Amino acid sequence: TMGTFSNITALAPMVRVGTLPMRLLALDFGADLVYCEELIDIKMVQCRRVVNEVLQTVDFVAPDERVMFRTCEKEKDRVVFQMGTADPQRALQVGRLVEKDVAAVDVNMGCPKEYSTKGGMGAALLSDPDKIEAILMKLVTGVSVPVTCKIRILPSLQETIQLVQRIEKTGVAAVAVHGRFKEERPRNPVHCDYIQAVAQAVSIPIIANGGSLDLVKSHSDIDEFKKATGTSSVMLARAAMWNASVFSSQGTIPVDKVMEEYLKYAIRYENHAFNTKYCLCQMLRDRVESPLGKQVQAAQTNAEISEAFGLQEFYQQTHKELQARRERLQTSSGP
Ligand code: FNR
Repeated sequence: TMGTFSNITALAPMVRVGTLPMRLLALDFGADLVYCEELIDIKMVQCRRVVNEVLQTVDFVAPDERVMFRTCEKEKDRVVFQMGTADPQRALQVGRLVEKDVAAVDVNMGCPKEYSTKGGMGAALLSDPDKIEAILMKLVTGVSVPVTCKIRILPSLQETIQLVQRIEKTGVAAVAVHGRFKEERPRNPVHCDYIQAVAQAVSIPIIANGGSLDLVKSHSDIDEFKKATGTSSVMLARAAMWNASVFSSQGTIPVDKVMEEYLKYAIRYENHAFNTKYCLCQMLRDRVESPLGKQVQAAQTNAEISEAFGLQEFYQQTHKELQARRERLQTSSGP
C-alpha cells in the first residue's frame, strides 16, 4: 500500500466539486488519485448500495433517493472515499459499506467549516487525539483497503509532529497535510516548513497540500511544491478546480476546453444539474457574469447547460444511448 501514496499527485477532497465527473476528468489529465467530496458518516450509513446498470456505476443512495456517492469501474483503483466522522463505530460502518468500490478511505480532520466541526468532525478532531486514534485504529483493523487522513497543522511544530507520529502508529497508509493553521484562510500563505518537518519525522508518505494559490499554478510548479515541502506526493484542490489540466504533464489547456470535457462526463453520468452548474461556475471564475456565465446560471438541466457550450448534439446522442440501454434492461428483466 505504500506505493499507492508515494510519488503521486492527487485531486484533493472538495465538497460539491469532487463528484464523479470532476474525478474522471482529473484522472484523464493525469492525476494518480482522486478524493471524493467529504461525505458525512450519518448520511452514508443510511445509504444502500445500488448497481446502476444503465450508467454502469455503483450508487450509494439515500432514503430520499438522492445519490450521495456515485462511482464507476474506471476509478475503482484510484478513488479515495473521504468521510466526515467523529464516531469510530459509524466510521467503520461507512468504511465497510464502500470498501469494495474504492481504493482507500480517508478521514477529514482539517475542515474548519461549521457544518463539519459542529458534530466534533473535521478540524474539531485535531484537538481530540484520543478520538483520532480510536477512529483510525477502528478503520485500519476493520476495512480491507488502506486508510488515510487529512489534517491541518497545529499551533506549534512540536505538537504537529507529535500528532502525526501518533497517527502513524495507528497503521494508516499516508497522511495528507494541509499546511495551514485551523484559523487561517485559504489566501494565507502555506507553511511549507511545517509540512517538511512532518515529512522528515515519519516514515509513511506525507501528501503536501495547500499550494494552489501562491505556488502551484501549472504542472511544472508541482515539482517546486514537492521540493519546498520535502515530499514526493502532492494534493491539489483549487488549482485543479479552476483548471483540471494542471495535472497534465503536457501542460495546461484552455479552461473552455476543460469545461467542455467536464460537461461531457456530467452528461454521460447524469450528474445533478445543480452540481454541474456549481462546478462550471468555479471554472468560469471571474467570468460568471459574462454572457456564457449568465447562460450557465440560468440553465436548470444538463440539457440546457449543454446548449450554452454548443454540446446539444453530444447531449442528444448520449441521452438516446442511455435511454435505449434503459429500455433494453427493462425488457430483459421484465415480468
Ligand atoms: C475544500 N477543502 C476540503 N477539504 C477536505 O478535507 N474535505 C472537503 O470536502 C473539502 N472541501 C473543499 C471544497 C472547496 C471548494 C475547496 C476550495 C476546498 C480543502 C481542500 O481540500 C484543500 O485542503 C485546500 O483547498 C488547500 O489546498 P489548495 O486549494 O491550496 O490546493
